[in-house]
Amino acid sequence: MFSTLSAYAGDPILSLQLAYRDDPRPEKINLSIGLYYDDEGNIPRLESVQRAQEIVNASTAPSVYLPMSGSPAYCKATQELVFGKDSEALRAGRVATIQTLGGSGALKVGSDVLKKFFPNSAARISNPTWDNHRAILEGAGFSVEAYPYFDPVTQRLDFEAMAAYLETQAEQTIIVLHPCCHNPTGADLNSAQWDEVVRIVARRKLLPFLDMAYQGLGEGLERDAYLVRALVKADLPFLVANSYSKIFSIYGERCGGLSMFCANADEASRALGQLQQAVRRNYSSPPAYGGHVVETVLLDPELRALWESEVDAMRERIHEMRLELHRGLVRVHPAYDWDFLLAQRGMFSYAPALAPHMQELIEKYGVYIIESGRICVAGLNTRNVERTAQAFASVLK
Ligand code: LMR
Repeated sequence: MFSTLSAYAGDPILSLQLAYRDDPRPEKINLSIGLYYDDEGNIPRLESVQRAQEIVNASTAPSVYLPMSGSPAYCKATQELVFGKDSEALRAGRVATIQTLGGSGALKVGSDVLKKFFPNSAARISNPTWDNHRAILEGAGFSVEAYPYFDPVTQRLDFEAMAAYLETQAEQTIIVLHPCCHNPTGADLNSAQWDEVVRIVARRKLLPFLDMAYQGLGEGLERDAYLVRALVKADLPFLVANSYSKIFSIYGERCGGLSMFCANADEASRALGQLQQAVRRNYSSPPAYGGHVVETVLLDPELRALWESEVDAMRERIHEMRLELHRGLVRVHPAYDWDFLLAQRGMFSYAPALAPHMQELIEKYGVYIIESGRICVAGLNTRNVERTAQAFASVLK
């Protein structure tokens, strides 16, 4: 019956994570998957999250199904984080939000709903992007093309090429945008460039689908949501997927959200209905535990303040490690221009020149990076950063 099934080559990021796990060398360094490690090399359990877990664990309430859209408190807290507490859009009931299975679940549900109502639209993703964007959108039935984003020669964002491409797109084309901490390049648009994108979106009547998996790890929780706020201000419809995996260090609980900004409250209630139907068809309702932990942190003023300080500390540590990597590389390989690293932010750095050396980095030095040349800066610490710089320099010399 199943003899025609083809073999699955595996996911490039998740396969590397398994290879790293099974590597017996104690000095191995994981700069592959987007996981935040602390300076001790551990994936942290945030204090705010642990305290919220104690509260949730103490509850004697039975474990019942959540509604299709998830916990209402979670959705409200998510809206306020993504759109801003004082958002006029929220007051007017113009945002439909559901709790999702991480950011990937949000992208999947959003793609299904878009395919139903925009069957003739094409989807556009950045070149490069997180591999799963293409997979999820193609899986939902869209034809997907990449828009210019990163110039491998200058190793920087090529905003002019991106803007010129967007100008040529047909009405209702779905444009996937990373509001902050671009994955994989770490090369973000500044606010003036986002304003320009918003103008093009309005002029061309494009349909933005934002993927915000790292809010808080670029420049801060508020500033990283600049694009969300700019689209609302311009009164343009869009979808935004957000994830709590990294910023709560709660990867396995699969916590994310999907919001649709609509023209009015009536449209938002229909949008919510469509999101609920897509959820019902996919997995019925999201898991409750992680969601309750996240909402407990977000809604309790003391835990919220503690969590925000923990996000700040993660962001600052990543930034410090990027500077440290840059310093180390300049020291061991001064002939090479490493300054592009300083223009990047968030969890990743991107050095396409390292791409052909990925196997050598893994086999010879135990340094795991992604095949594109993406480096998870959040896997660096004060003990492994020098060795990493030496490994990078050795393969490039
Ligand atoms: C990554 O890009 O490494 C993360 O988003 C994890 C994943 O699911 O690929």
